[in-house]
Amino acid sequence: MSLKFDFLVVGSGSAGLTYALEVAKYGTVGIITKKDRAESNTNYAQGGIASVLDQNDSFDSHIEDTLTAGAGLCRREAVEIIVREGPDVVQDLINKGAEFTRSQQGLDLGREGGHSANRIVHAADMTGKEIERVLLTQIADNQAITILEHYFAIELLTEHHLGKTVTRYDNDTHCYGVYALNVLDDRVERIYAKTTMLATGGAGRVYSHTTNPDIATGDGIAMAYRAKARVANMEFIQFHPTSLAVPGADSFLISEAVRGHGAYLRNLAGERFMHLYDERKELAPRDIVARAIDDQMKKRGDNHVYLDISHIGKEDIRRQFPNIYNECLRFGIDLSTDWAPVVPAAHYICGGVITDLFGRTSINGLFAAGETACTGVHGANRLASNSLLEALVFARRAALKSREYQQQVPMDFPEFPEWDDSGTINTEELVLVSHNLRELQQLMSDYVGIVRSNLRLERAFRRTRLLYEEVESFYGRNKVSVPLCQLRNMIGIAYLVIRCAMKRKESRGLHYTTDYPQTDASQARDTVV
Ligand code: FAD
Ligand code: SIN
Repeated sequence: MSLKFDFLVVGSGSAGLTYALEVAKYGTVGIITKKDRAESNTNYAQGGIASVLDQNDSFDSHIEDTLTAGAGLCRREAVEIIVREGPDVVQDLINKGAEFTRSQQGLDLGREGGHSANRIVHAADMTGKEIERVLLTQIADNQAITILEHYFAIELLTEHHLGKTVTRYDNDTHCYGVYALNVLDDRVERIYAKTTMLATGGAGRVYSHTTNPDIATGDGIAMAYRAKARVANMEFIQFHPTSLAVPGADSFLISEAVRGHGAYLRNLAGERFMHLYDERKELAPRDIVARAIDDQMKKRGDNHVYLDISHIGKEDIRRQFPNIYNECLRFGIDLSTDWAPVVPAAHYICGGVITDLFGRTSINGLFAAGETACTGVHGANRLASNSLLEALVFARRAALKSREYQQQVPMDFPEFPEWDDSGTINTEELVLVSHNLRELQQLMSDYVGIVRSNLRLERAFRRTRLLYEEVESFYGRNKVSVPLCQLRNMIGIAYLVIRCAMKRKESRGLHYTTDYPQTDASQARDTVV
């Protein structure tokens, strides 16, 4: 069975939906998404979208803040693009019906770490939900767009599946769509398209503690890498300093905007400690705050620190952070009187599939945007609330070049073989998958976390290799399923993170290793694999 579209979008978060709405002006669009349409990292975004909208703020200041956080690795042109196009994408969302929080002066602009001005546009503390709502409403009204839920992209359709040898540097590989598992019918289908957009989000689930929902398994990056696309900067995993550390809370995020609103970090002795690490204290960039918390926990032997916003006033907290306030209350923590126990958790991957300034990857006809892409915006450390901004801006830019590309491609695609599952059995015990997953997450958290070393990375590499061999053999014997494909992808992501981390013989931004604790100016370049 096969389907055909002019444009195929894999993923229904902010990047995928924005792109779909743009390219729908030029042809038919299919969006496939592995769960319900709203389920995405985007849907959980709290703090907001960074953009220069205050007359006392400036593009130069946002650019400088982004470059400073990125620790010498940002691509300046890409940064300038997101900053300068920011006000326009915010206005576009408002035109589409987004209701952002307002003050008497206009949009209420919040503050987050590393920003030298108030510039975070937000919808209370549920900004992502509002963005998804607005984009999905527009999608539902658009006749050119078909959205297929519970479709899991397994592999890209490239010449490799036609028996040709492709390499990472031949520049002659083309993408014609994907093999996707129709989960409800349990059948693999070919979905053909002139252009394919990978908007599959991040990979936080590779770690045992993460703010990311279940979908964040790095599928797009792993698939693209297998198809021989070029990938970079995978060592830069951002740990968010403040995830709620109570049993059952599943690393629920407490937004950086809470610190932007005046919250303090305290150790278990009740002492504030951020002044010991950075003069910006609680509003230092995330890498610094997460490392400071990690250091306090290790030095003192504690398993969390506290976030204290009890001095702000109940009404203010409830107005600004209704979702966070209620979620904490569910666990018996009243933020107006209690301190919340918090720990850092894996949050965002700065690296990904390399793209140019129009979302083009190194495979012809394959585009990437959002957390899956490495556009050069974030360098070695992403500035808070620049992610939604990047996703929205680069999705629109990718649409421009996708249109040009698809005009040159005929609809008569090469005929790809049907998915070959001969010789596989239905499923061996899935306990093997769940066990290997736990092992992978644990080893990534223990050996490839906030602080790394040669020894830990080498151990992680050896163990990942073993998991890879086991899972590849399992994959060859069993029918594809979502848990198995996700595990395979996560092992691929772990391998890329470890390999990039091993290549970087210095500490920079989010990559800190005790063997090379200093930044080395001669290594100020991307890690390309
Ligand atoms: P996503 O929104 O994650 O969407 C990915 C989509 O791809 C999903 O629909 C998923 O189901 C689908 N998918 C994945 N794999 C497959 C597959 N194999 N087949 C089919 N479909 C697939 N950033 C900010 O800028 N500001 C914030 O305030 C902010 N807060 C955050 C709070 C939380 C709790 C989290 C987790 C992240 C936050 N971020 C924030 C980061 C930001 O939300 C994400 O980086 C951004 O939303 C990514 O958008 P995306 O479209 O690239 O991916
Ligand atoms: C947050 O609200 O703290 C998350 C913001 C981000 O990830 O940019």
